[in-house]
This record gives sequence, structure tokens and C-alpha cells, in this order.
Amino acid sequence: MLDYSQIAVDMVNGKAQASGLGELVTAIRHDVRAALPFADNRFDAAYSHMLYCMPITNAEVERLSQEIHRVLKPGGLNIFTVRHTGDPHFGTGIHRGEEMYEVGGFIVNFFDRAKVERVSQGYDLLNVGEFEEGGMPRKLFRVTLKKPTVRPEERQNINDIRHDRRYSTATVEPGVEVPQNSSRIWSAIIRGELSPPRPTPNSPVGGEVV
Ligand SMILES: C[S@@+](CC[C@H](N)C(=O)[O-])C[C@H]1O[C@@H](n2cnc3c(N)ncnc32)[C@H](O)[C@@H]1O
Repeated sequence: MLDYSQIAVDMVNGKAQASGLGELVTAIRHDVRAALPFADNRFDAAYSHMLYCMPITNAEVERLSQEIHRVLKPGGLNIFTVRHTGDPHFGTGIHRGEEMYEVGGFIVNFFDRAKVERVSQGYDLLNVGEFEEGGMPRKLFRVTLKKPTVRPEERQNINDIRHDRRYSTATVEPGVEVPQNSSRIWSAIIRGELSPPRPTPNSPVGGEVV
């Protein structure tokens, strides 16, 4: 767990000790605007609640997302929550630049869908859910991103194949032809669980998924 506040770090370490989880939880003081102090491909998942919408600039939050991408294993999840532009405080109080507004001494950098897309660069965007929290209530997105298991250059090859007319159908089980726009098949190919189809020389519109 990372936070730049020593109070937050001490609180998390204290709660972990008190609940017998001291061996499993490590809280470290760190400002997430700097590079993350971890090796590449180390973690299965990252979770942050209302960190991306703290008063850090859009460029800094995009860099943070790429840093999280770096330290996740392929297939790892990045789940984050942010207050969005439907929140009652968006556009009120003192404008602090970009989509940041200060209300009651607290600055929030609000997200719209386009900003979610921008911080999702290089990930598969699995889900954007909406929920509410607190009495006001605050309005939030919960975003689930996955680091792809296929490298970008391999993904480009798959897209080239996907748009090739010779592969308009794929045979996945003997005798069963599946349209290649079947998202289930293509999701499995992109996850690396199935190989992309190879052209069948005798059948200009045939293909095979193995
Ligand atoms: C809205 S609070 C959420 C705290 C906690 N995630 C929770 O759900 O209770 C945001 C947290 O982000 C931390 N924070 C803000 N900017 C940060 C930064 N640049 N680096 C690290 N932590 C930061 C704050 O210290 C605060 O603990």
C-alpha cells in the first residue's frame, strides 16, 4: 500500500497489525507522481479508491496509470475509483485548472469518460461502473482495467487477420463454424488462449482456430 501521508501509512500499518495481517500488508510512504518503487511485472492487481481524482494533473495521472501498467503482470488488473463529472461538486467552488475544483479546502480532479479512456491507454478497459458514496452523495466511476497478455505488435497482427476477408469464419470444433466477429472467440485469441486462424488454401473463406 502506498500513500504520501505518513499518517495514512501509520494508520494502515497499525490496522494491519491489530487484525493479525501485519505479515501480509506493507504500507510505504510514497508520492505516486514519482516512479513506483517496484520492479516490472511484479503484481497481480492494483487497487486505488479516489487516488486518481486527487489534485494531481492529468499528465501525472496518465503517467501513474502507465507506471501501474509497468509493475503489473500480464493479465493483471488495475481497479480504480474516481469522482466523475456528474458529481454535485463538479463545476462548483474554486476552479483549480483542468477538471479540478476546490470545495471546502478539498481539491478534486473530476473524470469524464474521455479521461477514463486516456488513462486506459495500453490496457483492456473491462468495465466502467457507476456508484454513489456518502451522504451528498459523491458520484463515482469504478474502472476495471486489465494489462493485456498479448504484446501490442502481436495484437496488430491479430487485427490484420481479423480484417482479412479470407477469415470471415473460423472452425472451433469439428463441423461448427463461428463468425469471426464472435467476441467470445476473439477475446480468447486476444487473451492468448486460442491461436488466430490460419488460412486454409483450398477454402478462400475458411479458417481454423486451434
Ligand atoms: C480520498 S483519500 C482516499 C484514501 C483511501 N484510499 C480510502 O479509501 O480511505 C486519497 C488518499 O490519497 C493520498 N494521496 C493524494 N495524493 C497523493 C500522491 N500524490 N501520492 C500518494 N498518495 C496521495 C492522500 O494522502 C489520501 O490518503
